[in-house]
Amino acid sequence: MKKTLKESGVGTPINRVEGKLKVTGMAKYATEFPVKNKVYAQGINSTITKGEIISVDTSEAEKVEGVLAVITHKNAEKLKTFEEEMPELSTPSKAPVLQSSKVYYYGQYVGVVVAETFEQAQYAARLVKIEYKKDPDPTFQFDGSRSKAYTPEAQEDYLRGNIAEGLADADETLDETYTTPIEHHHPMELHAVIASWENGKVTAYASQQIVEDSIISISDTFQIPKKDVRIISAYVGGGFGSKLYTERHVILAVMASKMLGRPVQMTVTRQQMFTNTGMRQHNEQRMKIGAKKDGALTALSHETLSHTSTFQEYQEPCGMMSKMLYNVPNNQIKYRLIPMNFQTPCAMRAPGEATGSFALESAMDEMAWKLKMDPVEFRIKNDTQVDLGADKPFSSRLLIECLRIGADRFGWDDRPKEPRSRQKGNWLIGYGMSAASRNAPYQETAAKVILELEDEKVFATIQMDATDIGTGSYTIIAQTAAEYLDIPVEQVTVELGDSNFPITPGSGGSWGAASYCNGARAACESAITKLKENRNIDKDEEISVAELLKKNQLNRYEAEGTVAPSEEFEKHSVFSFGANFSEVWVDKDTGMYRIKRMVNVGSAGKIMNPKTAYGQMIGGLTMGAGMVLAEQTKVEPNFGNFITRSLADYHVPVNLDMANIDVIFLPEEDKIANKMGIKGIGELGITSVAASLANAIFNATGKRMRDLPITPEKLINAPLEPGVT
Ligand code: MOS
Repeated sequence: MKKTLKESGVGTPINRVEGKLKVTGMAKYATEFPVKNKVYAQGINSTITKGEIISVDTSEAEKVEGVLAVITHKNAEKLKTFEEEMPELSTPSKAPVLQSSKVYYYGQYVGVVVAETFEQAQYAARLVKIEYKKDPDPTFQFDGSRSKAYTPEAQEDYLRGNIAEGLADADETLDETYTTPIEHHHPMELHAVIASWENGKVTAYASQQIVEDSIISISDTFQIPKKDVRIISAYVGGGFGSKLYTERHVILAVMASKMLGRPVQMTVTRQQMFTNTGMRQHNEQRMKIGAKKDGALTALSHETLSHTSTFQEYQEPCGMMSKMLYNVPNNQIKYRLIPMNFQTPCAMRAPGEATGSFALESAMDEMAWKLKMDPVEFRIKNDTQVDLGADKPFSSRLLIECLRIGADRFGWDDRPKEPRSRQKGNWLIGYGMSAASRNAPYQETAAKVILELEDEKVFATIQMDATDIGTGSYTIIAQTAAEYLDIPVEQVTVELGDSNFPITPGSGGSWGAASYCNGARAACESAITKLKENRNIDKDEEISVAELLKKNQLNRYEAEGTVAPSEEFEKHSVFSFGANFSEVWVDKDTGMYRIKRMVNVGSAGKIMNPKTAYGQMIGGLTMGAGMVLAEQTKVEPNFGNFITRSLADYHVPVNLDMANIDVIFLPEEDKIANKMGIKGIGELGITSVAASLANAIFNATGKRMRDLPITPEKLINAPLEPGVT
């Protein structure tokens, strides 16, 4: 890499380049684009969990002033539906809607009203009368449904070695089940779209994480060529996985626009975001672990039981970390799914790791206690530099460093050695820790750079269909261009989220930063290379881009660059690593508790901007804390609808819950990951936070909490763990 621009290049903590646009309201989110002549759609949700629509009466709704159409399965356009019985949910999946009278879950869209104003549409939607025939036997509870569990197609059982032998060989064993509830993403910006169908072509301003996959989804659902779909997703107010997919409001808006010949805006309400934009599934994770007296693991089995919808398959891969994190000869990962009458669950921030690490790192803590070993030393004892699950070496792995540096920074030495042994007034004080790891994927990405010479200064514009879901993509891409063109960041403009721009993998799975920045780098390098070649300038000659343009007698020049994972990348397991430490104070009489402080150490390759990276990490840590403190979508036990219906009852942490957070990034150079050595941190921050806190609660109280969230009433009623005095 070139010498770093000290002021604004790669690795400098500059303020967000789009910050001013956001705080002044100039950054345009999906429904803020001034589309002329638009009308408003409001979805109608089913009020039964399973059954059939037997009659629809739209007459009252149609009389409402301004109402233009009421669309139900009776008059909806016939769309391409699933060919197979249970297709796997993926980000470019088709999203058919209103295609039959069947109801598969409570809240399913059964109609949509389109009107001149939002209020008219909302009002009229309530006047549509739908009669149902209820199926007497919906499935929405685990108890009584376990026999329906099947092995998901996408997740075969994994086994290395022999679990029974590994457990037999152990001095200590453990067999415990950890449960996590349904959770919802709830980004601040509601899911929303303005779609126009014009002469067979679709333009949609949509809040989506992956522009290209939204195009595939719309084109597949409506059976129109990809080139006839344009998506604009310039700013996204959070997604956390829910906006990876093209949800049905997008399809409904396109369908309505096609019918009415006018642009249609559809905003999913906060209540509908519980039923119509995905969720994290409920997981029951059974962990079996065996270890020798000296701490060496002999067996690790991780079985996850979850649910999917009755028409589509999604499996949160909870066993991922259990397959790669530790040096264990006998390892088993299994998944089972029960089809249930809920919407299809989907990826939610660190799908697999966020929940899987709660089970794994709680179980590791339990085992350390059985062995009377320090939990940090227990993990270090089982470190491996080879990913045994994939049979590949890690490109780099600084887990031990994360653990040691974190322990030092946190003051782990001062940990209460016995649970329930430190008290201050009414408070029981405990320390907890956990190890974390997240896959660091990197995908094929293209970008364009436009160089313009004005008064001796080079101005650059980067264009790519990448999205910024609030994470700082605009900023780090601008820093990359500044770095590789050797110009101040003020001279760089970044334009994102338009399918007219070169294709990227979008924002998801923590691959955004690595993919986007290397793509932008490649475009800048390609411009410089070509400008040099044109004038026979040696490729190593140091010459400014301004000089190069002048030598080429150009005041404007465009170039594209493409990057893809290297052979070396494919031969390695590329992961980021981390360690969490936390201190929790529990009121011994009420079970109420406070998170006093957290220390998080991460090794995630090159940190492009320490300021935006810090924001990402505290966001992840807050979500991780939310898993423990409060986050939970509750199911009504008789009818199967969600009774958690708004942010007034779906609780997330607030500032007061999040005390001192110390975030440390270790310097790490991993050139196997990609040329810039970026690994991405979107998901590392949430991983293992829940276990660290639950382990601190154990250390404080002697109570092992295996069911999230850990509410005060659960905590106060929980028994002491056998052996705690
Ligand atoms: Mo992420 S759950 O891939 O947005």
